[in-house]
Amino acid sequence: MSEQRGPARGGIRDLLRGLPVFAGELPDFDPASAPEDPLELFPEWLAQAVRAGVAEPHAMTVTTVDGAGAPSARVVIMKDLTPEGWWFATTTTSAKGRDLAANPSVALLFYWSAQGRQVRVRGRAELADPRRCAEDYLARPLESRVAGLHGRQSEPLDDPAEVDRVAERSRARLEGDPALVPGDWGLYVVRPTEVEFWQADPDRRHTRLRYTRPGTGAPWERGLLWP
Ligand SMILES: Cc1cc2nc3c(=O)[nH]c(=O)nc-3n(C[C@H](O)[C@H](O)[C@H](O)COP(=O)(O)O)c2cc1C
Repeated sequence: MSEQRGPARGGIRDLLRGLPVFAGELPDFDPASAPEDPLELFPEWLAQAVRAGVAEPHAMTVTTVDGAGAPSARVVIMKDLTPEGWWFATTTTSAKGRDLAANPSVALLFYWSAQGRQVRVRGRAELADPRRCAEDYLARPLESRVAGLHGRQSEPLDDPAEVDRVAERSRARLEGDPALVPGDWGLYVVRPTEVEFWQADPDRRHTRLRYTRPGTGAPWERGLLWP
């Protein structure tokens, strides 16, 4: 029988084992006093993350699934929270936009390490009407509008200088027509069917409160989960 060898000592395995997790003072979370609607609890947690100095607490991982069932995850900025759900913006022609056109099922993930908290959202993404998409685009700083105008996000890039040339043309077009909105600018709302609030405990007795509903508009049910 051949000998099995583990990874070399002093390598990445040891580095990883030396890293702390759930260190420092963690906040309390009492699920018994949580609101009935997760869309009321989320702003409370977000505000606490901001007060705790969590960096970019509005950055969320968005996971989509393509037409063949293959998943992709990437970070995007959360733009709003309304009674409909969580909002973000991108181009409908990006990989994630194409995924969402083929399959609107989506998962969102927030991780606020300083607080040992994560929020997991599952639901369906819906493209906003053209007026709202345009409003989102026009409210952006110039550099963001420049990048959004030429799009091409995630296309192979042969020559980095091409980005400057294309951006220059986009900037000139926007300066000539400040009301210009690209046809593929997409503002999406994620309508949730499941939201879980996860609070770390250093002794691994993590607190997990999950809200579920059978469809958007239905009342929320909630229950605790094993850590
Ligand atoms: C902190 C952060 C914020 C980001 N915000 C956005 C965003 O709001 N919209 C967006 O399209 N991409 C955003 N990105 C880039 C995406 O992660 C991703 O690279 C890009 O959207 C292409 O993804 P796709 O090819 O899967 O569509 C952000 C990346 C980071 C790290």
